[in-house]
Amino acid sequence: MSIEYNKIDAVILSKLTDKYGEQRGVKIGDDTFPLAAMDGDIPIGFVCVTPQVLAYPLGRYKDAYIEILWVDEDYRRQGIGQRLVLRCEEWARKAGFRQIRTHSNNKAVEAIHMWHKLNYGLCEHDYHEFMPDTNGYKNQFSGYWVAKPLNPIVPFSDKPDEVIRAWKRRHAYMYDADHGDCGDVELALDLIGPEPQNIFEACCGTGRVLVPLAKAGHNATGMDADEFMLDRIPAKAKGLTNLKYTQADIFTADWGNNYDVVILTSNTIMNLEHRDDDKAAQRFVIHKAAEALKQGGRFFLVYDYYPEPEKIFNNEPNKNFGPDKIGKTDDMGVSGQNYFAGARYNPYSRVAVMNWHQEITMPDGKKYIFPTQDHKYVCSRDDVLGWLSEAGFVADEEFGGCDRRPFTGKLGWDIIWARKL
Ligand SMILES: C[S@@+](CC[C@H](N)C(=O)[O-])C[C@H]1O[C@@H](n2cnc3c(N)ncnc32)[C@H](O)[C@@H]1O
Repeated sequence: MSIEYNKIDAVILSKLTDKYGEQRGVKIGDDTFPLAAMDGDIPIGFVCVTPQVLAYPLGRYKDAYIEILWVDEDYRRQGIGQRLVLRCEEWARKAGFRQIRTHSNNKAVEAIHMWHKLNYGLCEHDYHEFMPDTNGYKNQFSGYWVAKPLNPIVPFSDKPDEVIRAWKRRHAYMYDADHGDCGDVELALDLIGPEPQNIFEACCGTGRVLVPLAKAGHNATGMDADEFMLDRIPAKAKGLTNLKYTQADIFTADWGNNYDVVILTSNTIMNLEHRDDDKAAQRFVIHKAAEALKQGGRFFLVYDYYPEPEKIFNNEPNKNFGPDKIGKTDDMGVSGQNYFAGARYNPYSRVAVMNWHQEITMPDGKKYIFPTQDHKYVCSRDDVLGWLSEAGFVADEEFGGCDRRPFTGKLGWDIIWARKL
């Protein structure tokens, strides 16, 4: 007897229905894996695995769930169930699921042995069957929840180097694709005026601000630590001889001096990569801005004003931030998904830790899953104004938005146009 394993299509489904009646656990679709064991033309067993959303608070994640597994009495103890399950595992692993799981009733004694033998984790479970006709419960059952890790989450730093680089590169690509002028570029150009100025942008990223400054005729110099962010600049800066940038850590590198304007926007003051005490690092950067400016030079600083950070950051997943950048493929053929998985704000350290669930699919189809964390080093307006003042700045203008609306102390932007005395 040779048993064949075939993906269930409409033809096999109708054979299953003829033999077993309608099987609600068998679902045909792009994101399911229904498989039949066939003895010639006759189905003698089947399985179906589907993605299943995890319960609160993990509702952003899906596991592979074996909805149904069946092998005819006469065909048991021949390894057919095992082969069906192993094929499900193979599909689910390739699809990037973190684990595969199901429930197994104690009455299916062979199945419980099989899960054990296949190295599933087993967890005892008693339950009552719900009877819709009487709206009550009867028959207490015992069984096991069974689960096996497929693609365990491993720290980002343990990934192969090319995967880390692909993810960082994709991150820069997505930043470039998603971030245009949110008003700050126009406001900066307006405040700076039409006369060509020497401008330094700390943490210039993809050149979102730097390139329009140069296009407006200013001498624009940028610095950023991230090679992949900087790599996005040349394509936008073709023919601009008044734009230059370097890859360096703004804490240790020399910014140059005698600039007319220094820019630090996009709330970068709270996202600085540093090895120092957070507040000392932020203060240091403001002092560096002062040193790089000539007397009377201007500092354009844009940061997020959080009157009550704990209300902003202490959120369940997806309360404030939705799934991000779903499914886009970058120019190197790397695609991915990026889910916000909750944040915590510590009022003592004043650091918000934001958790992300990352998935990337490399051009060869291989999928990697890993968590990442962002830190927001929250500082107050008092901090910022204090550092500016001690570095020798006076804040000539302060706005609550790029349309020059006054700063009111509500959640939003604080935009400062300061002058070095
Ligand atoms: C939110 S992005 C802002 C990019 C750009 N200024 C804009 O407004 O689009 C923050 C940038 O800060 C850079 N950055 C953070 N810490 C840095 C450091 N210590 N030295 C240099 N760049 C840094 C990151 O690489 C990133 O490109």
